[in-house]
Amino acid sequence: MGIIKRIGTPLSPSATRVMLLGCGELGKEVIIALQRLGCEVIGVDRYADAPGMQVAHRSHVVTMTDGAALCAVIEKEKPHLVVPEIEAIATATLVEIERDGIAGHFPEFIPTARAAQLTMNREGIRRLAAEELGLPVSPYKFADSLAEMQAAIDSIGYPCVVKPVMSSSGKGQSLLKTPADVAKAWDYAQAGGRVGAGRVIVEGFIDFDYEITLLTVRAVGADGNVDTFFCEPIGHVQVNGDYVESWQPMAMTPSALEQSREIARAITGNLGGRGIFGVELFVKGDAVWFSEVSPRPHDTGLVTLTTQRFSEFELHARAILGLPVDTSLRRPGASAVIYGGLAEKGIAFEGVAEALQVPESDLRLFGKPESFVKRRMGVAVANADTTDEARRRAKLAASRVKPVTGK
Ligand SMILES: Nc1ncnc2c1ncn2[C@@H]1O[C@H](COP(=O)(O)OP(=O)(O)OP(=O)(O)O)[C@@H](O)[C@H]1O
Ligand SMILES: [Mg+2]
Repeated sequence: MGIIKRIGTPLSPSATRVMLLGCGELGKEVIIALQRLGCEVIGVDRYADAPGMQVAHRSHVVTMTDGAALCAVIEKEKPHLVVPEIEAIATATLVEIERDGIAGHFPEFIPTARAAQLTMNREGIRRLAAEELGLPVSPYKFADSLAEMQAAIDSIGYPCVVKPVMSSSGKGQSLLKTPADVAKAWDYAQAGGRVGAGRVIVEGFIDFDYEITLLTVRAVGADGNVDTFFCEPIGHVQVNGDYVESWQPMAMTPSALEQSREIARAITGNLGGRGIFGVELFVKGDAVWFSEVSPRPHDTGLVTLTTQRFSEFELHARAILGLPVDTSLRRPGASAVIYGGLAEKGIAFEGVAEALQVPESDLRLFGKPESFVKRRMGVAVANADTTDEARRRAKLAASRVKPVTGK
């Protein structure tokens, strides 16, 4: 494996070059972490001035679902490491480059090109988890037409959840309670999928007590081999499939925690490579179900900016460079999302000073050039003795930040 044995000087021939495919708020933090360790970072995203581009050494605007365009930018920059930060990438191209190289250059893909490919499609990761690894998951079926979807629902029953196989952040996703919801759910899935019309997954609804993200790090351990490290579990609240609030640690029974770790170890071990993974799990009593996994930092893990000795972004940077990690919790904390509230380019934020008057609070404004009503534009984080108090503080700080027109 291509572990970086030394780190060069950015912008010189010795530079350790890392390319981020995706420059959103999570990528921006990874870029900052890599730069603190002396890497040269090249940002790539589909639009100019994305948050990560604002801090990268240089950047390129590329349609990342276009394999030829992706090849061109990788060939031009010859990065040592390529780090996908989003799902919507021509992952078949990454698999080819990982296997054959490009113009004699062999970049390493984080964690692996196969992991990026399997997780961008719900079918790939679901079949791996359930059918190959035998992990507990909700009942599921795939469907390519309304009639097939109806048949799948007839066997799974209500309530159930319908999702496009290629989508994220809850886009195109519906909870179905009665037969009257079926046609609408099909239409919504067809409109909300990343690649337009296509296959959906029908999942039985899991009536969980709570859901967690178990951040799991595959990094080089003291013996020089890749080992698995776990962060404390993160609890979170999702609204319409999108995260609004998270906290760490989430209190769990020893048995549920143990099962969660075993599931996370199994799925990340199969995906392989080095880096951080966000393993999403549903928990009811002592029962645990695998939901999905991001082979990269997770949005609910923004809370680690304030809770851990090293944030999930710093852990990712260390793991991918082959450096030691420390996943220890420093102090309980919480995060609360700050939305755009209005649809406009170049908005402004008021109330930041008031927000930061909340005890033990901090925030990030991501610097996205364009706001939408439900676009995540920032996050407030806070610590406290308990996660309940930290949640109250984070929400209070977030509520004090007021997006206003920048004109
Ligand atoms: N089968 C299910 N049973 C119960 N709740 C579910 C189920 N599937 C999804 N959900 C709820 O919807 C949320 C989003 O689902 P999922 O993670 O599959 O979608 P996503 O679009 O990948 O979201 P994200 O990209 O934000 O992780 C889950 O975190 C959970 O709260
Ligand atoms: Mg999810």
